[in-house]
Amino acid sequence: MNGHISDEYAGYLRTEKYDKEPYRRKEFIINCEKPFNAETRPDLLPRSFYVPNDLFFVRNHAPVPVLKSEEEFRLRVEGIVAFPLLLSLQDLKTKFRKHTVTAVLQCAGNRRTEMSRIKPIQGVPWLHGAAGNAVWSGVLLKDVLMAAGVYPNKAEHVEFEGADLPPEEDNRRGYLASIPLKKALDEGEEVLLAYEMNGEVLPRDHGYPLRAIVPGFVGARSVKWLSRIICKMDSSDGFFMTKDYKYLPSSMDFENVDWTSTPPIMNLSVQCAICDPMPNTKLSQGPYKIRGYALTGKGEHIMRVELSVNGSKEWQEAKLIKGEKIANREIPKRITAGIKDWSWVLWELVVDIKPPMIITARAIDSACNTQPEVPLWNLRGVMNNSWHKINILPLSSAL
Ligand code: MTE
Repeated sequence: MNGHISDEYAGYLRTEKYDKEPYRRKEFIINCEKPFNAETRPDLLPRSFYVPNDLFFVRNHAPVPVLKSEEEFRLRVEGIVAFPLLLSLQDLKTKFRKHTVTAVLQCAGNRRTEMSRIKPIQGVPWLHGAAGNAVWSGVLLKDVLMAAGVYPNKAEHVEFEGADLPPEEDNRRGYLASIPLKKALDEGEEVLLAYEMNGEVLPRDHGYPLRAIVPGFVGARSVKWLSRIICKMDSSDGFFMTKDYKYLPSSMDFENVDWTSTPPIMNLSVQCAICDPMPNTKLSQGPYKIRGYALTGKGEHIMRVELSVNGSKEWQEAKLIKGEKIANREIPKRITAGIKDWSWVLWELVVDIKPPMIITARAIDSACNTQPEVPLWNLRGVMNNSWHKINILPLSSAL
């Protein structure tokens, strides 16, 4: 297993061209073609506890790198470790125990479009489809770091490097992000080097052949096309750690921004979205089953989802769907006090529709974290987890 470090870049053809992009389904809402950024149509999300791989939102910052062949893939593990490793996929699959975790991924920019109604924001205009739940399999990062003999008293962060080439990153390094070593070494945090998504080989758009999955953290830390892991003293100085994915004070604009004022975002916060119906749907009067998702960070679970159909005067509790079958696949029975949970929850509630009307949804997690009533505007338009409000229009409406 202990190999020497070669100069090969992990077996990838790194590319800045968009001529070898994977096939993508037409059902996506495409927010940007190059790099490819597409969200799942929100009304499709509650149809399945696990979002199908070919409908799972894609957030790329560069062309998808091309792996020359699976045999040539190599993962480097180095930095403050006793035994730097060079691991093939075969090494990962045969020399480490396989671990599986159900975890939600949410882009920090999910629901940016609603925030940009307060004041314009530059960035991918996500609706509420930049989130998805999947079951991931691979090896625990902890096991790999232990095999490399990480020095836990000297290193404090684990940096991941992807094989793609975002123009924002200096020195021709790939996409970079780091997480605290403590998170990586805690088995209960289940940080994974994943090679399977929903029981299938990881698709190219989602990091084939290997990606990090950091449960409970924003998607930006789950680095795709993983080629290098470096144990370090300091957190990564990559662009997406130092100049993006930060929840800046609302007083900061591009003219006065001080990126050092704010740490990089790590944990997800409590989130809730109405998926069906879609905003501005025309409906007739009568009962309608409202459906959506809710999620949170830190391994907490969603305790309650509430809906209001009368301008937030009164709230009704939605049914959380668990331990059932959706699209023929079993949803795990969840929610045991003290047990960490990294997945989302789907919910539903039949309400009386009387258009025109606004439906509002909000969630509360097991640590009693709630959501703000309105978005807290910030320059990068991240972490919008305000109450989700959608308009319902009468069938006769001209809009
Ligand atoms: N990893 C690499 N190498 N390059 C990227 O552009 N995007 C990040 C993260 N990992 C990214 C990456 C962001 S911002 C998000 S939200 C998630 O991947 C999205 O994962 P997905 O495309 O599999 O949904």
